[in-house]
Amino acid sequence: MLDIELIRDKVLNKTFITDIYYFKELDSTNEFAKKLDDKDNVLILTDNQTAGKGRLGKEWVSEKEKNLTFTIKKKFKIDPEESNYINFFFSYFLLESIKEFLNKNLPNLNSDNLQIKWPNDILMNSKKLCGLLIESVVNKDEYIIGIGLNVNQEKFNSAFDACSLIEYTKSEINLSELLIHIIFCFSRNLSLLEQQNFGLVFNSWKESTKMIGKSVEFIDPKNVKKTAKIKDFLENGGIKLLISDEEKVYFSGEVKITGFGR
Ligand code: BTN
Repeated sequence: MLDIELIRDKVLNKTFITDIYYFKELDSTNEFAKKLDDKDNVLILTDNQTAGKGRLGKEWVSEKEKNLTFTIKKKFKIDPEESNYINFFFSYFLLESIKEFLNKNLPNLNSDNLQIKWPNDILMNSKKLCGLLIESVVNKDEYIIGIGLNVNQEKFNSAFDACSLIEYTKSEINLSELLIHIIFCFSRNLSLLEQQNFGLVFNSWKESTKMIGKSVEFIDPKNVKKTAKIKDFLENGGIKLLISDEEKVYFSGEVKITGFGR
């Protein structure tokens, strides 16, 4: 369970977060964020998300009080065409903050088994550890950054091919301390986005995918499964694939690496 007093004490006004909403139970932190009109630098937290939303219309299922499910609502003065850097930024620094937290608290563990999967999942040993759902508010500079990170949950429905940090650490992780660590990591690095240091953000993200050259299964936007090889990731958010000897760029779809190119 989250220690909301500790989180408020450490995070409020000591990072970019100036407002926190906490609920014991909530349908979706992203949906709640959408109802907050014209707010900036807000963190929305719940111990029990009952109707979590994932990418591509999927659901995000998370066991009560075991994981982190939270949303940041923030304004960015960024050309909408460059908003994919928001995606690169949050997935990369989320990965970094998890690695830092593990290295600090469990120095003997090797966190090299963590990687980013296009466009913004985090995998551990090729299973999904974390998902981000980033939504923007039309005609405003507001972004809703929803994060689901599996932490202390021990059992998952096999259909999700998911995992959590406890499988790796073997000991329970303090959710509040991990959350505080993540928010500080975002806060420390936000100037990269504000100063439009996009190249650095993109290159760091790209290196963390460790996926170029791998053979994968790709489910295209029309839900057609294809065998593909990853050729490159593009700064405009696209993925370049080699499918039947032809190069193709996609901006949505799903990469499956289970059983392929591990
Ligand atoms: C995905 O991988 O499909 C994205 C999952 C995003 C889940 C998080 S949990 C907190 C926030 N609220 C939601 O309803 N979804 C995001």
